[in-house]
Amino acid sequence: MNWGFENRLSKLILEDGHCFYLAMDHGYFQGPTHGIERPGVAFEPLEEFVDAVFVPRGTLKNAIKSNTKTPIILRVSGGNSIVGKDLANEEVSVSIDEILRLNVAAVGYSVYIGSEYEHQTLMGLNKLVDQCAPYGIPVMAVTAVGREMDQKKEARFLAMASRVCAEAGADVIKTYFCDDFEKVVNGCPVPVVIAGGPKVDSELEVLEFVYTGMQQGAIGVNLGRNIWQNACPRGVARALQAVIHENATPKEAFELFKDMKNAK
Ligand code: R5P
Repeated sequence: MNWGFENRLSKLILEDGHCFYLAMDHGYFQGPTHGIERPGVAFEPLEEFVDAVFVPRGTLKNAIKSNTKTPIILRVSGGNSIVGKDLANEEVSVSIDEILRLNVAAVGYSVYIGSEYEHQTLMGLNKLVDQCAPYGIPVMAVTAVGREMDQKKEARFLAMASRVCAEAGADVIKTYFCDDFEKVVNGCPVPVVIAGGPKVDSELEVLEFVYTGMQQGAIGVNLGRNIWQNACPRGVARALQAVIHENATPKEAFELFKDMKNAK
């Protein structure tokens, strides 16, 4: 540990031990995703509610104001698109010089465990940790992603994937909520944040899985589509902030959502 590392981490995990990250990294593999076609326009109304934003460097440089007070988690893996051969064929996509130049709070990197590219992406994580550690830059590993992983979102698999990433040196793990989620958290020596997944049918459903996941040990979330694809993104963001930082129940938070939606 060093002061720089501690300082960055303190911006990403607040004093209550919790965190709310807004994911807007989707463009790096799927182009102008609905809701973040203009990421800067989508981000600004949400900025007051979130603790950090997860973006690729293109979005950062072109859509996020350089005087933002919001800590940046930089997406540093890539190399493929949704029309390419295999989404899992990723590598570290940003140099350590660029990471430092962009003055980010942390980096985020995907590991495709169980895929043909498991070894490549896992070794990439190890190397990224080696490159970031001397400069005190925390690394968030994103686990269990990729098309073929849809069938594997169960506790045994996610616990294994999370632990493997932690052993490679990741400082925070982002993975999916699942039944028996406490098994994932209990088997992982570093903090776990809940990833989003496809947009669910109702706001209450989002609030419930976040609430339950946090009751079971997650420190917070990294969510995208369920926020900025909602008809009232600010309402969802405010409600999530209440669950994450104010101990609100899903029902209490849903009332905040409704108030904001009705006030629009
Ligand atoms: C994962 O690596 C993605 O790029 C997103 O950061 C993650 O899936 C969270 O976004 P969403 O809530 O839209 O799934």
